[in-house]
This record gives sequence, C-alpha cells and structure tokens, in this order.
Amino acid sequence: MVKIAPSILSADFSKLNEEINFVDQAGIDYIHIDVMDGHYVENITFGTKIIKTIKNLTNTTLDVHLMISPVLKSIEDFSNAGADIISFHPEADTQPLKVIDLIKKTNCKVGIAIHPKIKISEIIKYLHLIDLVVVMTVIPGYAGQEFMSDQINKIKFLKDFKKNNNLIFEIEVDGGINQKTGLICKENGADVLVAGSYIYNSDYSKYKNIIETLR
Ligand code: DX5
Ligand code: ZN
Repeated sequence: MVKIAPSILSADFSKLNEEINFVDQAGIDYIHIDVMDGHYVENITFGTKIIKTIKNLTNTTLDVHLMISPVLKSIEDFSNAGADIISFHPEADTQPLKVIDLIKKTNCKVGIAIHPKIKISEIIKYLHLIDLVVVMTVIPGYAGQEFMSDQINKIKFLKDFKKNNNLIFEIEVDGGINQKTGLICKENGADVLVAGSYIYNSDYSKYKNIIETLR
C-alpha cells in the first residue's frame, strides 16, 4: 500500500489545528512541509516557527521539503524545530555530501529532491546514502500545478535501481497528485504520494475519502 503525505502548504492556516487533526484522523503516514525561501524558488512560505507549532499538534512524522539555498547552515534549526525527515535539492548547496552527513547526525532521515530539470544521472551518487528520494512532478514553488508526466521515467528508473542494488530509499512523488496521477505513480513504483490541493481544496468531510482513494 502506498503511503500518503498531505502537503500542509495548501491547508487553511487560520485553522491549522483542525487541518492537521482531520488528515491525522483519516490515517496518513507523513505531513509534508514545503519550506520556500524566495531564492531557490520564487515563492516564500514558512520556516522553523511553523514547524515547531505543527510538531506540538501531531505525532505524525514531519516530512520537511527544503526549497532553500544554501542548505547546510539551516539543517540544525529544522531538526531542532521537529523535522523527522529532511529533504533538500542537492544543486542548492555547494556541499551536498556535508548536508547529508549533518542531517544524519541530527538523527533525521535524509531525502534528496529532484527538480524536474535535473537529470536522474546527477543524483545517482547519493542513492546509497539516503532514506528518501522526492521525485518532483511540478516545477517547485507553488501548489496546484499540473502533473508533469515526463517525470514518470525517473520513478521507474529509481524503482529498478533500488531493486538491483538492494537499496532502502523510499520513492516519494510530489506535485500535481490526484486520483488519476497518483495511480500512475503507484503503478510505476512510488512508495509515498504527496498531495496538497487535491486534499485541502475539498471540504473537511471529504478528506478521509480522498485519502483512502489515493491509497
Ligand atoms: C511544490 C511543493 C509541493 C506542492 C504539492 O513546490 O513541493 O509539495 O505543495 O501541492 P499539489 O499537490 O497541489 O501539487
Ligand atoms: Zn514538496
């Protein structure tokens, strides 16, 4: 069964407590938290303070997706704020291997996120070191964009690579996930589906049903 990670970016922040409780009650695996700095990506979202708040509202694994540059100097802050998994874009820092090491030292799981414009060959060198690969199926920056089906070959590649090399990383797909695209990702090897607007743009009463459908 595929894991589900609602992206809190699309939640109503004036009702953060309810937005988290309702997805928690529906049975989810991770809460996906999109941190954007207005530099690595155009948009600015939130930082450690919101993560601390979310940590106090739930026991669910916090899956933090950093879209920031540079990365290294911020890792300890995000870990201290309550991140359980920290993913970053390797091209956003001059020392990606140091970032991986530091994330591990802080006792968080470590993920590499692949921008749609980055070739899979550029991240192969990290695959034996990490717990999660985030295959991005939209250009990072905003929720509610259309799924880029030309990225599906990366999911397939990772699935085969993982099997052939006895590796343990999970394959998470992030961007434009709905019932249709989620199924395609699952069929091609996704272990975790991130969904923002597909869940949060509906009524509370439908969250459970949408999450079950995705799963
Ligand atoms: C995009 C973010 C995604 C996004 C997902 O930069 O990394 O996690 O919030 O939102 P939807 O599911 O609406 O594409
Ligand atoms: Zn994300």
